[in-house]
Amino acid sequence: MIYGRGSFNQVDEIIAPHRKSMNPMVFFVDYFFEGKPLASGVPLRSNDKIIFADVTHEPKTTYVDLLANQLKDEFGIISGVVGIGGGATMDLAKAVSLMMTNPGSSADYQGWDLVKFPGVYKVGIPTLSGTGAEVSRTTVLTGPTRKLGMNSDFTPFDQIVLDPALTKNAPSNQRFYTGMDCYIHCIESLQGTYLNEFSKSYGEKALQLCQEIYVDKNGWDDDCDDKLMMASYAGGMSIAYSQVGVAHAVSYGLAFLLGTKHGIGNCIVFDKLEEYYPAAVKEFKYMVEKNNIEIPQGICRGLSDEDFNKMIDVSLGMKPLWENALGKDWESIITREKLRALYERL
Ligand SMILES: NC(=O)c1ccc[n+]([C@@H]2O[C@H](COP(=O)([O-])OP(=O)(O)OC[C@H]3O[C@@H](n4cnc5c(N)ncnc54)[C@H](O)[C@@H]3O)[C@@H](O)[C@H]2O)c1
Ligand SMILES: [Fe+2]
Repeated sequence: MIYGRGSFNQVDEIIAPHRKSMNPMVFFVDYFFEGKPLASGVPLRSNDKIIFADVTHEPKTTYVDLLANQLKDEFGIISGVVGIGGGATMDLAKAVSLMMTNPGSSADYQGWDLVKFPGVYKVGIPTLSGTGAEVSRTTVLTGPTRKLGMNSDFTPFDQIVLDPALTKNAPSNQRFYTGMDCYIHCIESLQGTYLNEFSKSYGEKALQLCQEIYVDKNGWDDDCDDKLMMASYAGGMSIAYSQVGVAHAVSYGLAFLLGTKHGIGNCIVFDKLEEYYPAAVKEFKYMVEKNNIEIPQGICRGLSDEDFNKMIDVSLGMKPLWENALGKDWESIITREKLRALYERL
């Protein structure tokens, strides 16, 4: 792991020892940066390739398979992949790396410990802070039948480069939603039943950084970018040995049915979770107001019984999240009726 302002300039040097003869490095760059200075700073050598990742939707298994197959057809073997962008681009890079060496479709590996072989060398470089995708052992993909990660020991990046300068121009709403993903990771980990000293150590630090940025400070400056990047890292480490909770479980249902994105979806749900995380929801509402952010309301208005049932099924399927949040008896606490009432309020 490398951290520091300007560390992006070291990428050429960092990846050099991992170049294998004439096999290229492939850079996945968030399409927001097409034509921007960051894209011209990508250290392309010989037959290296840059692919602008379309992250209009969260990554799909079909998109991962398409990219991996194109690279196999064009080059056979590649030296590695470098993912530069938000959580979606980093996840895409992780998944393509794995699909360069594992047969079949990425949908075959959605689950836990199904990936058979290490992928090609992979580097993660975030341009938005909060998801923790830079440290996690998963890459979240929407497949033909489910939205589920490729969770495995082969999934984490070999190298990450944390350069807070890359997050400077992120739009404030998006930056808040993704930053709150981190805040919510901390709350759900620290107040969960799976908590342990490892998760607590990282979770407390990440939470403190989030509070310094969103509660104590007035306005956004470089120091906020520095802190949020480390909060994202520590928040991701915290959930590596625990689990997320109610907001994530409920927002997965929204994502599946309505395509609601991870960061904003978590905010929409967390805003209504006073029963489960009273103090944190109060603080969340304060942060929303202080930072002038809009949280969409009424997104489930007009949905049919069938729609609600689909979301409830997806959400209740996230068993470890509910168990972490509510304990072993979670099934008697979060009934279908209760969850339906919660979805109706969103
Ligand atoms: N693997 C994991 O552990 C993990 C954890 C949480 C979330 N995720 C995934 O991460 C994704 C969400 O990631 P995210 O919240 O970082 O957002 P994102 O990657 O979806 O990007 C959101 C938007 O911000 C733009 N963007 C990115 N960097 C920018 C910058 N510096 N300036 C301006 N615009 C910029 C993108 O083009 C996009 O339009 C989801 O696909 C989710 O499933 C993965
Ligand atoms: Fe998250």
